Amino acid sequence: MQAKTRQNVLTAFVGEAKAYFRLLAYAEKADEEQEPQIALLFRAIAEAERVHATRQLNLVKDLLVKDTDTNLEASFQREKTVSENTYPDFIKDAEDEGETVAALAFSHARDAESYHAKLYERAIYHVIKNVVKAYHVCQVCGYVTDKKIPKKCPVCGAPPEKFKTVGE
Ligand SMILES: [Fe+2]
Ligand SMILES: [Fe+2]
Repeated sequence: MQAKTRQNVLTAFVGEAKAYFRLLAYAEKADEEQEPQIALLFRAIAEAERVHATRQLNLVKDLLVKDTDTNLEASFQREKTVSENTYPDFIKDAEDEGETVAALAFSHARDAESYHAKLYERAIYHVIKNVVKAYHVCQVCGYVTDKKIPKKCPVCGAPPEKFKTVGE
């Protein structure tokens, strides 16, 4: 793909992906304001933006999606970078500005990302056994485990009912 078009596709993909989440938030707001039809409108358009994002991603798949070994390694590196550099910087800025709620959200994210990195690392070194087993994801902080659902999330303290199972 030619350079300018490729850049535009990448920009469009990020824009559509963001719109998807923004519109879902708008839908929630419309529900709160007892505007069910407007909520549905936002949800429908969100779904459409998801279609656009997926279609645009497919255009640059060769660029963004490699073989699984490479994808695992890249994902591991990204988690390491965000947990060791990006989030610690964000936490510091939030603390400097007295933004305690944001600081807590960032610190939960940092801790969860480091667990993500460990899971990827185990997959890279083939510690995952030859069975397909479910993961459990904390819906408060994003902590992920392939063990049992903990009584208390080790990152944020959330109870078991806050966990969502992926793969069952
Ligand atoms: Fe992560
Ligand atoms: Fe959690």
